[in-house]
Parts: sequence; structure tokens; C-alpha cells
Amino acid sequence: MHISDKKPKEYLIVRIKASHAKILANFFKSLIPQTIKLFHPHPFSEEFLKKLFADKKDVRIFLSSRKKRKIAGYAFVSRFPLFPMKGYFGIVISEEFRGKGLAKGFTNQLFDQCKKEGINKILLNVYESNSRAIKLYEVVGFKKIEVAFYDRYLIAFREVLRNDGLKGSIIKVIKSLSQIDRAVEHSIWMLKDL
Ligand SMILES: CC(C)(COP(=O)(O)OP(=O)(O)OC[C@H]1O[C@@H](n2cnc3c(N)ncnc32)[C@H](O)[C@@H]1OP(=O)(O)O)[C@@H](O)C(=O)NCCC(=O)NCCS
Repeated sequence: MHISDKKPKEYLIVRIKASHAKILANFFKSLIPQTIKLFHPHPFSEEFLKKLFADKKDVRIFLSSRKKRKIAGYAFVSRFPLFPMKGYFGIVISEEFRGKGLAKGFTNQLFDQCKKEGINKILLNVYESNSRAIKLYEVVGFKKIEVAFYDRYLIAFREVLRNDGLKGSIIKVIKSLSQIDRAVEHSIWMLKDL
């Protein structure tokens, strides 16, 4: 899969597997704290990523710079429990690769793949101060929405299941929901139909 930019051979998009956990863990370690403040969808330890990436239902990809022989970005759409045709989107491009239009091409490739795999609605939340990300989302067709309570609940439930598997308790779901509600105070929600 090649990214559709002006130099198609320079960047390669790779579908993530469990065996990529180590290189992705190193990529996340290389990101600066300001980036992590904006992008923290799940833990970044190698052990956690191995489990996360073993789930083939989600669509997770990384962008690799052939010239620099390093990862330039990571993006994913993870399915909602009970509503597998609906996905939650996240993206990060490392600092040195920003502002080249890479995020746009990368996102569009991810969504093409999601469509092929039966996902028809993509939801995200973003801090209202993150104007760069909001610009990207508008460019690729997201519209601001009021998010329904059940969507926040499903996101919280997904986080707990992911961290604790079937040991996840209702208390943890509620705790996670209240964290999401705090984040919601400073964030906006956006939706795109595929
Ligand atoms: C958001 C992010 C993925 C964008 O990556 P990028 O490769 O720089 O984005 P692109 O170059 O494809 O630009 C996408 C759009 O944003 C615009 N843009 C670029 N830099 C911008 C800036 N500093 N401020 C506002 N808009 C900007 C571009 O002009 C482009 O729009 P256009 O096609 O109309 O010109 C990247 O900044 C990032 O990883 N940020 C930290 C993590 C993060 O915030 N993730 C999202 C969490 S919800």
C-alpha cells in the first residue's frame, strides 16, 4: 500500500501486526512530551501493544519513511464494542515529518481500508486547542457533533476491556467514563460517514 502523495515511493504504509509491537513502542518513546499530551489513546508499552495489535478486527497502520528508515506516523480505527461498523479514530505524525501533507494521505488510505472492512462511521474527539489536528479533520471531511452519552460509555467500556480484558469491572468503566467526561470538557467530537 503506497501513500498517495507527490513522492509515492518515499513513504510506505504498513498494516500493523503483533510482531510490530517493539518498533512501534520505540516510535512512541521517540515522541516529545507535547505530542504525547495531545495523543494518548492507549498505553505504549511493548507488552500492551503486542496484545492490542493481535486484534485483527481493528485497522491499525504505520507510515514508514524509506529514505530515513524510520516510522513517520501511526493511525488507527478501533471498532466500538456492540457496534462494530462504527470506529474510533486516532493519528500521530512525528514532529520531523509534519506539515508535508502526509497526515492527509495517510488518513485517506486508512479510511479506504476501513470501508473495505465494513466500517461506515468514524468518530473522534480532539482538544479544542489542537487547531492543527482540527484543520486536518475538517480537510478529510469530519463535522463537529454533540456526542451521545452512549458513545462516551462505549469508549470507556472499550478502554477497560482493553486494559483488563474480562476482569474489567463496572467500577472501572465508571472511573474511565468520568475521566472521559473531564476530557470532554476541553474537547470537541467529530464524525465522518464513510
Ligand atoms: C495533527 C497531525 C497528525 C497533522 O499532521 P501533518 O502531517 O502536519 O498534517 P498535514 O501536513 O497533512 O496537514 C493537514 C492540514 O492541516 C494544515 N496544517 C498544517 N500545519 C498546520 C498548523 N500549524 N496549524 C493549522 N493547520 C495546519 C495543513 O495546511 C493541511 O490542510 P490543507 O491541506 O488545507 O493545507 C500532527 O500535527 C500531529 O501528529 N500532532 C500531534 C498529535 C495529535 O494532535 N494527534 C491528534 C490527536 S486528536
